Amino acid sequence: MEKIKIFPAVPAMLEDMAQLERLCFSDPWSRAALSDALESTCGLWLCAYHGDCLVGALGAQVLEPEAEILSVGVHPDFRRQGIARQLLIECFARIRAVKTVYLEVRRSNFPAQALYTSFGFACCGIRKSYYEHPVEDAIMMSWNRPEEELW
Ligand SMILES: CC(C)(COP(=O)(O)OP(=O)(O)OC[C@H]1O[C@@H](n2cnc3c(N)ncnc32)[C@H](O)[C@@H]1OP(=O)(O)O)[C@@H](O)C(=O)NCCC(=O)NCCS
Repeated sequence: MEKIKIFPAVPAMLEDMAQLERLCFSDPWSRAALSDALESTCGLWLCAYHGDCLVGALGAQVLEPEAEILSVGVHPDFRRQGIARQLLIECFARIRAVKTVYLEVRRSNFPAQALYTSFGFACCGIRKSYYEHPVEDAIMMSWNRPEEELW
């Protein structure tokens, strides 16, 4: 497969990002919400390209010493090829001052839970009926920077 390249998101990518959201989620971020998020000074949005095709995206909010992963989605035709893993690695490389990372994931979303567990995230709580379309509990997960990497 052609190499995947990861870039920080820019406004010209918004239309493709919104389309990818709709392909990946039953409750997708809208183009307007993505546009606001890209403008936020605490936003970190990364896009994975296969040629000129947007195949994956990750959004995070960074408020040192914490960050929250807001969205990770990979085009259905490109899954299980390590793209989400690459996006998370790139995200972690850009938030070296962060000590704790949080995220929420649907209770039934085992692929995403497996992805996050493989990065060292662990369950830290449940948010009842947190999601809509359909209504579902959220598993809250957190990751703590290992002691030896703290200064
Ligand atoms: C979850 C998602 C982002 C994973 O993207 P991906 O690019 O296919 O994931 P990767 O190929 O990088 O997988 C990395 C690891 O995650 C886990 N994983 C990913 N998909 C999995 C699946 N379907 N079943 C089990 N484990 C899975 C595995 O541990 C995998 O490592 P391995 O392939 O060496 O076994 C993708 O399935 C997706 O976009 N789903 C819809 C949107 C979504 O649910 N996003 C997460 C919201 S919290």
